[in-house]
Amino acid sequence: MTTPMISLKSIKKAYITGDHHVEVLKGIDLEIRQGEYAAIMGRSGAGKSTLMNILGCLDQPTSGQYFLDQKDVSTLDDDTLSAVRGKLIGFVFQSFHLLKNLDVCDNVSLPMEYQNTSPKQRRERAEYLLHLVGLEHRFDHLPNQLSGGERQRVAVARALSNEPKILLADEPTGNLDGAARDKLLTLFENLLVETDVTLLMITHDDLIGKLAHRKIVLADGKVVS
Ligand SMILES: Nc1ncnc2c1ncn2[C@@H]1O[C@H](COP(=O)(O)OP(=O)(O)OP(=O)(O)O)[C@@H](O)[C@H]1O
Ligand SMILES: [Mg+2]
Repeated sequence: MTTPMISLKSIKKAYITGDHHVEVLKGIDLEIRQGEYAAIMGRSGAGKSTLMNILGCLDQPTSGQYFLDQKDVSTLDDDTLSAVRGKLIGFVFQSFHLLKNLDVCDNVSLPMEYQNTSPKQRRERAEYLLHLVGLEHRFDHLPNQLSGGERQRVAVARALSNEPKILLADEPTGNLDGAARDKLLTLFENLLVETDVTLLMITHDDLIGKLAHRKIVLADGKVVS
């Protein structure tokens, strides 16, 4: 629990659309240690997803420095950044981003294809993860044959496929009913016990806020507590 996994220094992010220059992140300083469970909270539009895209190496800040696993990733080119991402990070997006032409099992297996995992290992791990999220009866369904909550759980299984050091999830319980949500939160708790994963959850769910070791609240582009 001592290595800083993530360290942000004066991170700013602005978007330019037409004549508008929107400053979304206005100087974020943050340190997150390996094995921490943090809830990122704040109102709609506060910049949570923007911050997650930067933390997940999907987007670069406009200025500031980002040290991931003690390496400065703020200046890496796209290819190097995506290699870092594939090795270290699992994502659950707010809108899931499942590939619609691939069945559930292949969606979960896909990230492993980029890591030279054999087809047999991929299949076994995908089956294991789908059991873990309670979808063993949906292996060969396509995403459009699933409910919103089921898609969300496929996205969680996929995010875990490469045994990430960091799991980033944007509203992971947003589409789940009470029972599915409790199961998923138990899964996260078990991951924390069994692995050294760092969990970062963007959430409006007060229960995650309570379970997490730490709450990071964003308002108007800054960390306010
Ligand atoms: N690609 C973009 N181009 C221009 N503006 C953007 C872009 N992405 C986000 N924004 C703006 O940045 C602000 C923060 O957006 P962000 O998606 O980070 O909010 P959020 O905290 O995740 O909100 P929510 O809880 O609704 O998901 C919003 O005002 C949004 O309109
Ligand atoms: Mg968002």
